[in-house]
Amino acid sequence: MTRATWRTRLGFVLAAVGSAVGLGNIWRFPWLTATNGGAAFLLLYLLVIVLVGVPGLVGEMVIGRRSRRNPVGAFAELGGPRWRVLGGVALIASVVVLSFYSVVGGWILRYTLASATGAYFAAPEQYFAAINYGVGAAGFHALFLLATVAVVYAGVDRGIELATTVMVPGIVLLFGGLAVWVATLPGSGGGYEFFLSLDVAYLRDNFFSVLVAAAGQALFTLSVGAGAMLTYASYLGEDRSLAADGTIIAALNTGIGVLAGLVIFPLLFSLGVSPGEGGPGALFVGLAGAFGTLPYSRVVGVVFFGVVLLAALSSAISIMEVLVAYLVDEHALSRPRATAGVGGLFLVTGTAAALSPSLFGLLADTLANLVLTAGLLGFLLFDGWVLRRAALDEYETGAGRLARLTGRPWYYAVAVVIPLFLAFTFLTGLGAVVGVPVSAPAALALAVVGVGGAIVLLRSDTDSTA
Ligand code: PHE
Repeated sequence: MTRATWRTRLGFVLAAVGSAVGLGNIWRFPWLTATNGGAAFLLLYLLVIVLVGVPGLVGEMVIGRRSRRNPVGAFAELGGPRWRVLGGVALIASVVVLSFYSVVGGWILRYTLASATGAYFAAPEQYFAAINYGVGAAGFHALFLLATVAVVYAGVDRGIELATTVMVPGIVLLFGGLAVWVATLPGSGGGYEFFLSLDVAYLRDNFFSVLVAAAGQALFTLSVGAGAMLTYASYLGEDRSLAADGTIIAALNTGIGVLAGLVIFPLLFSLGVSPGEGGPGALFVGLAGAFGTLPYSRVVGVVFFGVVLLAALSSAISIMEVLVAYLVDEHALSRPRATAGVGGLFLVTGTAAALSPSLFGLLADTLANLVLTAGLLGFLLFDGWVLRRAALDEYETGAGRLARLTGRPWYYAVAVVIPLFLAFTFLTGLGAVVGVPVSAPAALALAVVGVGGAIVLLRSDTDSTA
């Protein structure tokens, strides 16, 4: 059986943008921006995207295109059987992310429908509290999952590529329209100020905590660390510049994220809702509650949540594809069977998250950041110290002159500098989870020792087998 491929160049880019643009931009981003000082967070987030996210994204795609395999098969093929475990980390990350993601997808689906009748307008807080967890939430999660299964079932080019080619331009158009309309509302000005004016003192006082939050969010929003971009890149031909594609994907993702911010913050301010009330309910209680007071509230609600639903779906598809590709490549299952099996798995794990707020919180808040950071850290050390020259070759394949010039700096960033940064944020985040606060100098020292040790081991290992 020949392996699936993307039909067109644009098709791959749109599918990858569809993976990147999702609840991360619309639900998680405003929530984290609001709790981390507004523009201070935005600034660090943009820096991490450029300096860590884009090279990291390319590092992940290099492995996918080089091997033309799912994550587990990719590492085995390129590094030998014992590297399968690194692919296993990616599979675990995919399970962690989609298990809570599809619950939020279910909330969005419910709000899209409820907007048509205005069900949540009168008492938004009570409405969200009544639907967020429990049997109803599990039911809507299952519906969202079913939609995801339907697209993945249809295949890479006829399902994913076709769906995202329609969805992504739709998201841009609808959000653009909403942003223009929001600007005309009285009182929206405060939102732009909050979002775009930098509070230097806040940034100075909270630098490390904002940095760690920004780093986790940057990985999440670019879909790196879970093998989704690796898998999408495995359906690519050799004639593409991964560096150029990675840059385009990140730029579009960031642009759409900022556009979402330009809708959400001015809207909140124009309605006098404080964006500071963080937590997973921020979007639902604050924004949804505000819709009720607007002219054409039902239309606005349906359009807004409908766009978010499309964005969430195009991301969920990419996560599910990681596991489906694994079953198809490694266990020779047919795509329909693999998709059904993976759908069944998430029916169980997602239902558990929909029934248990504490499990949901654990997955969405802390575990997601940690598994994505660990995943990307492993991928990049693999690029730098197992693939070595081959990673650079793959980077340069299909690249134009400009991209070739960036090859060596990219290699050193991916092999040394970014792993240090990821280990640093991983340790700081882990410390916060287990309740042992790790100071910045201590985290840095541990990161240097850990990454340095890993590099020494990998070098002696590949030297002795070479
Ligand atoms: N990037 C997606 C979003 O922002 C989430 C995601 C994470 C998708 C990891 C795939 C892998 O919503």
